[in-house]
Amino acid sequence: MNTTTPLLNTILDGIRKDYTKGNLNEDTVNEDPFQQFEFWLKEAIDGGNHHANAMTLSTVDSALQPDSRVVLLKDISEGGFTFFTNYTSKKAHDMVSHPKASLLFFWSEMERQIRIQGVIKRLSEKASDEYFETRPYESKVGALASKQSQKIASRAILEELYAEKLKEVENKSIVRPANWGGYVLIPSKIEFWQGRPSRLHDRICFTLQQNKIWQIERLMP
Ligand SMILES: Cc1cc2nc3c(=O)[nH]c(=O)nc-3n(C[C@H](O)[C@H](O)[C@H](O)COP(=O)(O)O)c2cc1C
Repeated sequence: MNTTTPLLNTILDGIRKDYTKGNLNEDTVNEDPFQQFEFWLKEAIDGGNHHANAMTLSTVDSALQPDSRVVLLKDISEGGFTFFTNYTSKKAHDMVSHPKASLLFFWSEMERQIRIQGVIKRLSEKASDEYFETRPYESKVGALASKQSQKIASRAILEELYAEKLKEVENKSIVRPANWGGYVLIPSKIEFWQGRPSRLHDRICFTLQQNKIWQIERLMP
C-alpha cells in the first residue's frame, strides 16, 4: 500500500506546530563550535532529554548508497566527536569505503538540530582500551558475543552465543577485542539550527577554512 490513508493524514496534520523555544544569533553564538555544541548539549540534558548524546551517524557504502543509524556520542577528543562500535559492522565497512560521514542531533525539547560533516578516523588504541574498561561486564561480554550486522537465524542462538562467552570468560577480566573500538569524526562543517516562529528558523553554520579558523555564516531557513 502506498497511498496516504485518512488516518495518516489526521496524525500528520495533528503535529503541525510553531517553534518558539529560543533563538540563535551571530552575536551570542560561541566562536568555537565545540564550545557551542557543549553548551547546547548541556541545555538538552538539563532540559530533560535522556538521549541527548544519541546521534544519527550517516555513512555511504561502496555503491554510494547512504545509510543511517543511531550511535552514542562518548566524548569530544582527538579532534572530534567520538563513538564506539564493532570494526566489522556494516557502518565500519562503509567508513572503510568512504572515510567521510555525518552526524545529526535533534533535541526536540529545545527545538534544536545540529548537523556535522567531516572525516572519520579510528580512535587511538589507548582511548578505545580506556573506554572499553569502563563498560559494564555484561556489555563487554556482549561485545565478544555479537558479530554486529551479521545475519543470525534466531534470538535463541544469540542468547546461546552470549551464554557461551559468559562461561568462557568466567568472571575473568575481559580485554577489548580487536574488532571493537572507537572512531572520531573530525568536523569540517557544523550547523546549529534553532526553530523559530513562522518557519523563520535560525541557522548558523561553521565551516573550517584552510587557515584552521572557523568561518561563521547564517543560512536561510
Ligand atoms: C539509542 C541508541 C544508541 C545506540 N548506540 C550505539 C553505539 O553507541 N554503537 C553502536 O555500534 N550501535 C549503537 N546503536 C545501534 C545502532 O543504531 C545500529 O543498530 C548498530 O550499530 C548496527 O549498525 P550497522 O549495521 O549500520 O553497523 C544504538 C542504537 C540506538 C537506538
